[in-house]
Amino acid sequence: MSNAVDTERDTDTELTEAPSGKRTTGESDETVEEAWTDYRFDGDAKLDVENLDVWYGDEHALKDVSMEIPEESVTALIGPSGCGKSTYLRCLNRMNDRIKSARVEGSVKLDDTEIYDPNANLVELRKRVGMVFQSPNPFPKSIRENVSYGPRKHGDIEKGLLARLFGRDDTEEEYDLVEQSLKQAALWEEVSDRLEDNALGLSGGQQQRLCIARCLAVGPEVILMDEPASALDPIATSKIEDLVEDLAEDYTVVIVTHNMQQAARISDQTAVFLTGGELVEYDDTDKIFENPESQRVEDYITGKFG
Ligand SMILES: Nc1ncnc2c1ncn2[C@@H]1O[C@H](COP(=O)(O)OP(=O)(O)OP(=O)(O)O)[C@@H](O)[C@H]1O
Ligand SMILES: [Mg+2]
Repeated sequence: MSNAVDTERDTDTELTEAPSGKRTTGESDETVEEAWTDYRFDGDAKLDVENLDVWYGDEHALKDVSMEIPEESVTALIGPSGCGKSTYLRCLNRMNDRIKSARVEGSVKLDDTEIYDPNANLVELRKRVGMVFQSPNPFPKSIRENVSYGPRKHGDIEKGLLARLFGRDDTEEEYDLVEQSLKQAALWEEVSDRLEDNALGLSGGQQQRLCIARCLAVGPEVILMDEPASALDPIATSKIEDLVEDLAEDYTVVIVTHNMQQAARISDQTAVFLTGGELVEYDDTDKIFENPESQRVEDYITGKFG
């Protein structure tokens, strides 16, 4: 009897042997190897994350994540719900600072400058590292005002009576910036004749591209996107996907998605997080989807869990 059980166990072990030949004893107790996340690439890193940990109260939501994010490319973050993707994304422009219970340890460098330096200028940081959220969130203002909101708030564009009195009215600059940002966000053609209309009258897909235009108007270098297309229909989604690919020519894009096909289609490299807030594997997107090192990553992307 005990013999039979042993034989069964052996067979199990055989079946869970990873494609690379690394032996794993089963899905949940796979040991993550450092080499799986040590992604090497040509060119420069825009962001360098080292030993990043995040806690919400006692909950350890992100565990010792290190990864370099190459500039002017698309990095996809994938993994099951609750594995820490949004938490990680928010660390990249210190949005977690706004969550009372959140505690962040570790280092994030943007072009060699530590963003967690106590003296870091957060307004400047969030100009350089913009964010687009899951649900489009335009302000209940005109399309034009939505796009120029950031530059006006930061004082880069001055308007109104006082500005006119002092001869500093930037109305023309504002129109140029609005046009340029809407063009970059592939929305100009659809809204050029209705810039004064309320943004809430746009379709969901148009609203999301407007939010991308609003983000671009500030002149960011990095754009963080948290499932930007998950609330959209397939046509609106494919417009966002095309846009993300175009943006990567000039910007560093980091995008969270639950959609495997989307990650495979639009990203250059993919980072896979798994339950417990661990970065398990990070590599060229083709490698992750065609021949991952981790058995759990393979199971996740082939839909066996998550
Ligand atoms: N503001 C918060 N306060 C407390 N706990 C939080 C907060 N935000 C996230 N968490 C916890 O941290 C863990 C990671 O959450 P996170 O939102 O980063 O996951 P996710 O991978 O983005 O999930 P999803 O795919 O569902 O969006 C979860 O256990 C979550 O409950
Ligand atoms: Mg999330």
